[in-house]
Amino acid sequence: MYSGFKIITLSHKELNLRDLGNFVVQSNDANAKGEKLKQLKEFFSLDELFYMQTCNRVVFFLYKKIGIEQIDSIDWFEQLNPSLDLPQLKWVSKNALVYIQEDVIKHLFRLMSSLESLVIGEREVFRQSREAYDQCAGWGLCGDNMRLLMRIGVVCSKEVFTDTKIGDKSVSIVSLSIQKFLEQDLPKKSRILIIGAGQTILMVSKFLLANNYKNVSVFNRTVQNADFIAQKFGKKGYKLSELQDFKEGFDCIILCTASTKIILTEELYAKLLQGDKGQKVIVDLSIPYNFDKQIINSFDVNFIGVEELREIANQNMEYRKNEMILANAIVQKYVEDFKNIYHQRLIERSFQQFPVQVKEIKEKALNVVYKKRIDALDGDSRELLNEIVNYFEKKYIALPIKSAKESILR
Ligand SMILES: NC(=O)c1ccc[n+]([C@@H]2O[C@H](COP(=O)([O-])OP(=O)(O)OC[C@H]3O[C@@H](n4cnc5c(N)ncnc54)[C@H](OP(=O)(O)O)[C@@H]3O)[C@@H](O)[C@H]2O)c1
Repeated sequence: MYSGFKIITLSHKELNLRDLGNFVVQSNDANAKGEKLKQLKEFFSLDELFYMQTCNRVVFFLYKKIGIEQIDSIDWFEQLNPSLDLPQLKWVSKNALVYIQEDVIKHLFRLMSSLESLVIGEREVFRQSREAYDQCAGWGLCGDNMRLLMRIGVVCSKEVFTDTKIGDKSVSIVSLSIQKFLEQDLPKKSRILIIGAGQTILMVSKFLLANNYKNVSVFNRTVQNADFIAQKFGKKGYKLSELQDFKEGFDCIILCTASTKIILTEELYAKLLQGDKGQKVIVDLSIPYNFDKQIINSFDVNFIGVEELREIANQNMEYRKNEMILANAIVQKYVEDFKNIYHQRLIERSFQQFPVQVKEIKEKALNVVYKKRIDALDGDSRELLNEIVNYFEKKYIALPIKSAKESILR
């Protein structure tokens, strides 16, 4: 019944993420992407195509009423990216995952519910799949089949996120670090020094701003990057080398760089304290740590470190995985729902022509086959005959659709 559906996909499970770019629709803008997808749809004579790409996954949902089995992953990716060489295509044929029939429905619902994600329970994939669908529908690539799949998929994943705890308990190091930081209950005016200005610090700074911590000074190897973050707090950034001359004191230091050497030494820490004896907070998210651990022994410090946070993140991930049993049951329920609704839809489609055909038979009977005899009837008899024929027409049209639908539900 679902023989027209197919998924061709590659994800973090099969692929080194650096290579993902070879297997996505390469385009400079959205219009070019739409055009490329239209070409693919036309080349393979597909009825429908839905494309989704995230930072660790590429998924092509195909629908072709007749002949879908003739499209394999080598043909697909060769057409998608003609610069792929033979070893790459051989690799694809071995590693790309292909789902057919009922597994297509299940895979989409699992994907949208984040059960296939690297970070199980992350809600981002739900938003991404809806946006990708809207875009493809806007380009005229999708039809009734994909629309129905998405409609049920949305309801399914909403239920997974609300009726299970799969998205509870953070597994993000950054948000866990901020949770721990907030537990320290520092006053909003606290002086915060940030060391580093990469992606992690960018996320940390967003959380700080959202929680009204604005007295922030940013130090980084490249001052322009420090500026970029500092501007969010209405300040200028500093070069990392300027840290040793910083005399404004601090209440908390947050570090996260890719340096493999210690940046915050005991000596530098003592200098930054400016004789302050109060308790301080250090948050170090770098791997390896960028502060000298000896500082914890020598000074009054509350320390929040990536190692402890990782431990919590792992425990939280285990908790989320336990919720998968319930989530899988919800997905299965919606797969069954989809099957029933899809079956009904197929019947509706196949009966679409039925009313027209019945009408044609009626018209022929009245106007050709029995015309002479009907013309010989008086006005009242002709009216009664018309009423009876119309009544039969109406009942005739409704009867087979009704009984076919009932037979599915039985
Ligand atoms: N386990 C986890 O979940 C997790 C989470 C978050 C972070 N981390 C750790 O945090 C580190 C940073 O992550 P990110 O995503 O923010 O990286 P990123 O975006 O690449 O930024 C790297 C930052 O480190 C600075 N840096 C690099 N080499 C340096 C050096 N030798 N001396 C001083 N500064 C240096 C960079 O300065 P420039 O601007 O001058 O390049 C930049 O500010 C990673 O290496 C990772 O180990 C781990």
